[in-house]
Amino acid sequence: MDAATWAYFNGGAADEITLRANVAAWQQIPLYPRVLRPMHEAHTRVTLLGRTWSHPVLVAPMAYQCLAHPHGEQATALAAAAMGAGMVLSTQSSTSMEDVARLTLADNGRGPLWFQLYLQGDRALTCELVRRAEDAGYEALVVTVDAPVQGARNRERRAGFQLPSHVRAVHLDGHEPPSPAALLPGQSALFDAHLKHTPTWNDIEWLRCVTRLPIVLKGIGHPDDALQAHRSGAAGVIVSNHGGRVLDTTPPSAALLPAVAQALQGDLPVLVDGGIRRGTDILKALGLGACAVMVGRPVLHGLANAGAVGVAHVLRLLRDELEMTMALTGCTSLSSAHESLVVPSVHIGQT
Ligand code: FNR
Ligand code: LAC
Repeated sequence: MDAATWAYFNGGAADEITLRANVAAWQQIPLYPRVLRPMHEAHTRVTLLGRTWSHPVLVAPMAYQCLAHPHGEQATALAAAAMGAGMVLSTQSSTSMEDVARLTLADNGRGPLWFQLYLQGDRALTCELVRRAEDAGYEALVVTVDAPVQGARNRERRAGFQLPSHVRAVHLDGHEPPSPAALLPGQSALFDAHLKHTPTWNDIEWLRCVTRLPIVLKGIGHPDDALQAHRSGAAGVIVSNHGGRVLDTTPPSAALLPAVAQALQGDLPVLVDGGIRRGTDILKALGLGACAVMVGRPVLHGLANAGAVGVAHVLRLLRDELEMTMALTGCTSLSSAHESLVVPSVHIGQT
């Protein structure tokens, strides 16, 4: 992979404090070993939006996967289905949602297939994307709400990253954003132009009325926003800071998760992403109140290395490590994962 593409995939916002903290925070949470418990009926099954799946790992939505490998999102989706993992396809996918759905829906062992939606300034375009996702067989809309504006992507800019001409956001073909209106002296390009078209809570309620699919809000970090998501009719929330790519110095997802889970008290399913790199991280996330996790960059690394086989390998490792961790913490089902933790104030020390 060339250095600029590497910077796009792996970089975060600004000084990358959150990017690093996401990984470090899971590492700092201790797991307690438990011994001699009977484990023969243990399993990794989870229930999500009314269906039971074989394990709690989903591929996070990530744009432009054809940059990592020519088979792009098709390879990722195929591997996810083969490994029983979920797949969330980005609005900014470089492969059409119909092609991805066609490859995976018939696989009986697959995980959930969800479409990540960026609400568009133009409601007609949003409706068209929603209709296409429904018709293609997607089972939920993951509406990403934490990136109304791109973060300060310093690493990516320093590397001079630009999309090559053969990779594009195919769902947005013909819908390039209008060139910014002329500003009056003293006006802000952000507040007086760009943000006029960005969504608010009212748009979530509107979206609920135009789709039959459950809406999962991605990018929730504050318990009050989680409660507002519930009032606005969301079917779930994803605790996320967008992999440290938008607002730098937000707390790591591992630190945001407990308050969100406590606020919702089980009324809505809570997922989490950001820095999940090991099976131990997955068990900790479930122990802190999540019912599933999403994995981002490791999937891209597998994809870039070996296409579908590489993605399958990454997902297999995570699942094997999760089972291993359950065995070593005496955890027979993920609903009892909290028992494997942890006095939250205990730290393991420098790794
Ligand atoms: C992302 N992410 C993202 N999120 C989203 O809602 N829509 C998108 O199109 C993208 N695109 C995207 C591209 C790339 C290259 C990365 C790395 C990430 C964020 C993603 O869904 C997820 O929140 C984080 O990647 C999770 O953190 P880790 O696992 O990468 O640490
Ligand atoms: C990103 C956008 C596409 O994180 O969400 O690159």
